[in-house]
Amino acid sequence: MADVIVGHDRDQHADPAAAEAADAERTLLITGIGELVTNDATLDATVPIGRSDAGGAVGVLWNAAVLIEGERIAWVGSVQRAPDGADAVVDAGGAAVIPGFVDSHTHLVFGGDRSAEFTARMSGHRYEAGGIRSTVAATRAAGEEVLRTRLHRLVDELRDQGTTTFEVKSGYGLDAATEAISVRLAREVTPEVTFLGAHVVPPEFEGRADEYVDLVCGEMLDACAPHARWIDAFCETGAFTVEQSRRVLEAGSMRGLMPRVHGNQLGAGGGVALAVELSAASVDHCTFLSDADVAALAGSETVATLLPGVEFSTKQPYPDARRLLDAGVTVALASDCNPGSSFTSSMPLMVALAVREMGMTTGEAVWAATAGGARALRRDDIGVIAPGRRADLVVLRGPSHAYLAYRPGVPLIERMWMGGVEHC
Ligand code: NIG
Ligand code: FE
Repeated sequence: MADVIVGHDRDQHADPAAAEAADAERTLLITGIGELVTNDATLDATVPIGRSDAGGAVGVLWNAAVLIEGERIAWVGSVQRAPDGADAVVDAGGAAVIPGFVDSHTHLVFGGDRSAEFTARMSGHRYEAGGIRSTVAATRAAGEEVLRTRLHRLVDELRDQGTTTFEVKSGYGLDAATEAISVRLAREVTPEVTFLGAHVVPPEFEGRADEYVDLVCGEMLDACAPHARWIDAFCETGAFTVEQSRRVLEAGSMRGLMPRVHGNQLGAGGGVALAVELSAASVDHCTFLSDADVAALAGSETVATLLPGVEFSTKQPYPDARRLLDAGVTVALASDCNPGSSFTSSMPLMVALAVREMGMTTGEAVWAATAGGARALRRDDIGVIAPGRRADLVVLRGPSHAYLAYRPGVPLIERMWMGGVEHC
């Protein structure tokens, strides 16, 4: 659908610094954009009166163009006013363009798989947090090179589905050495690295959870903190209590890591309240919420990150996104890609599930999977197509962002730019 219609060969520079400087100034105009979802609310006024098919998307421009300069967006507007003289021009051929997906919750470093557990669940077995231990055994046995190869394969997979920024957690090593390898590998592929030593209590600490928490807050944190930006804890029956989770999150904060929480996945509990108390960037899952949880989230800076791949794969009820949105809570969508509860890296699938099963409009779901993810990672350079932001954008194979829900399971990523560089 999209075609380069004008372009100059890249200047031949013998000097790499000069080549880099030329790349930093190089301009690309994407024109012929049928529907541009910017997520920039200041652009709402440009939606022509009478056009009602934006599905709640924020900052939609019709017949738009985007100018990219180096790794940033330089200009956004109507195609008629597009600046002349770009180094290259791409015609999107009437397709929709959205910000690249921001997947703020994944667990991509692991060995083995749990397809047998999935199969058993589909015939009636319940999901239990304890299944994590089988992945811990496989991860410890895998070795660094195998883990790296598998991680890179998953990164390729999520990029091919339109994800331009993603977070990666540790949490399948659960000893100091394997957790350190996990965060180091994660740091090779993303700056958004989360230390999740408090995922479950490993078998060698069975019945000694507090001693394990000592290890997480001590030697393990020492080994992992230099490679991580975030600290996380699974605050749930079968994993860690509120008190244990608080200890871990506070220890991480003391080392400069910012908190995020797994909570309220398998039942009502104190995860959300703890996340709000600690001003965590995000509390993830939020499947079982009390009215007090919803009110606390609404009055906070903490994003509620919903992970519908988990409910799809565990047959639990989906979280009630409508209830959260109507209360004024900031909602993000993420894949939670992991071998146990959600072995998918597809953000388009998350959008489709959120629209079909969770009461979100198509526009709300796209916002949550892009700008919402950016909020959950406390990033203001991504998730929005506006001048000055990173040039992370996706040309869809279709005229509307609604195709992401309307055509589930179909490859819809036509082209994608990450920091102004095309992903091929
Ligand atoms: O986010 N909830 C805790 N951790 C993962 C599940 C990991 C697993 O089952 O292996 C999650 O769903
Ligand atoms: Fe998770």
